[in-house]
Amino acid sequence: MSHHTTGKSLFLGSFIHSKSLDELEYLHNSAVCVDGNGVIVAIEKDYDLKKAEETLFPKLGWSVGDVTVKTTKSGQFFFPGFIDTHIHASQYPNAGIFGKTTLLDWLNTYTFPMESSLSDASKAKKVYTRCIQRTLSNGTTTASYYATISVPSTNLLADLCFEYGQRAFIGRCCMDTLSPDFYRDETPATALADTRATISHIAKIDPSHSLITPIITPRFAPSCTSELMHGLGALQKETDLPVQTHIAENPKEVALVKELFPKHESYTHVYDNHGLLGPKTILAHAVHLSEAEVDLIKEREGKISHCPASNSAITSGTAKVRWLLNKGVEVGLGTDMSGGYSPSILEAVRQASLVSRHVAMGGEEEAKLSIEEVLYLGTKGGAKVVGLGDKIGSFGVGMEWDTQLIGLGSVDGDMGFGDEGPVDIFGWETWEERIAKWVYNGDDRNTLAVWVKGRLVHERKG
Ligand code: GUN
Ligand code: FE
Repeated sequence: MSHHTTGKSLFLGSFIHSKSLDELEYLHNSAVCVDGNGVIVAIEKDYDLKKAEETLFPKLGWSVGDVTVKTTKSGQFFFPGFIDTHIHASQYPNAGIFGKTTLLDWLNTYTFPMESSLSDASKAKKVYTRCIQRTLSNGTTTASYYATISVPSTNLLADLCFEYGQRAFIGRCCMDTLSPDFYRDETPATALADTRATISHIAKIDPSHSLITPIITPRFAPSCTSELMHGLGALQKETDLPVQTHIAENPKEVALVKELFPKHESYTHVYDNHGLLGPKTILAHAVHLSEAEVDLIKEREGKISHCPASNSAITSGTAKVRWLLNKGVEVGLGTDMSGGYSPSILEAVRQASLVSRHVAMGGEEEAKLSIEEVLYLGTKGGAKVVGLGDKIGSFGVGMEWDTQLIGLGSVDGDMGFGDEGPVDIFGWETWEERIAKWVYNGDDRNTLAVWVKGRLVHERKG
């Protein structure tokens, strides 16, 4: 497989990104220079092409002929790529299929049969290829993936992400108990050996983890023995790799953990006592945590993936994001597809906004999240959750060019159904209003192009 390098690029026009949790920065008439390694080497305000060529390029030692130029048209803007901090690539064919189930019967009815069927390599290839293409076209430049227990098909997911150029964390799913006979790790030892096999495979395709990183993945406490979790905790200590798992998603699951691990103070303590809660741990859901648990997560610097579409679809509950943020815990967004019905982080952004309103209707007025805040969670917040806050999630010199070009439809011109997407811009909207209209009405038709590490990985035709 080839190593990906790109030429030098100059991006001109409007750039919008999160400065902080509640503030977006709008940079218009600006220039961003990206070198051949996909790293931003200069950002200048009040620049046009001529000025860039005359003053910026000589400063960088660039010559005009070597540089690809991309300029936003009126109304378009560059926005950081979305970060999906929790997604099951192996569940993509089930997106939208969940009926009236809740977590535990959802797993048995839909999820385990689908995941186990992906031990068929040709089926896995079909599913993973489409999942990657679909998420890229929705602007997801980084995804923290769960694959399945199968090593060959998990390794295939890593290969495909590398080939298509999506930044990814790849987790071989560990589950050695309370799982169906047809879909479980034989013993803690085989689960650990298989986890190491995927780590070794990724070391071969991307030794520096420039794009692909293995992630240690105990599915969740109910499906892991204490012996397996101790082994995975030790493996984390040995390798310093990230960890992902589920926590406190559903009340029945929380009760089950209490029953299975009676000696541990709480669900959070189960992970902590097995060496699985640290600054590189991504905990998905966190809907039903006690105050003491959030305090422990904060103390360990653990991270939380909020999955609003999933929590509504399989009726898990409403996560108290404002409370988590006020406690000082880093929060990002996850689609949790196919617990969540959509592969789109823009949808997760929208659902995070709505779920926060449901929390507010429950009596906590300050729970409401603003457009700025939910976009932060989908980009800069997510970057911190996956440990890449110094590389991606916003624009800055030294950061990598993981970016989407967004275009919103104008009511001038024909109503070309399908071409310009579902957002109608009349022309009088402020930039803040345009962003709000994108968040609430936009979709992948508004994502015109996507880059990861400077490489163009998706472009809409027409
Ligand atoms: N808990 C254990 N496995 C899963 C899963 O695949 N999805 C969700 N949402 N929760 C889980
Ligand atoms: Fe999940």
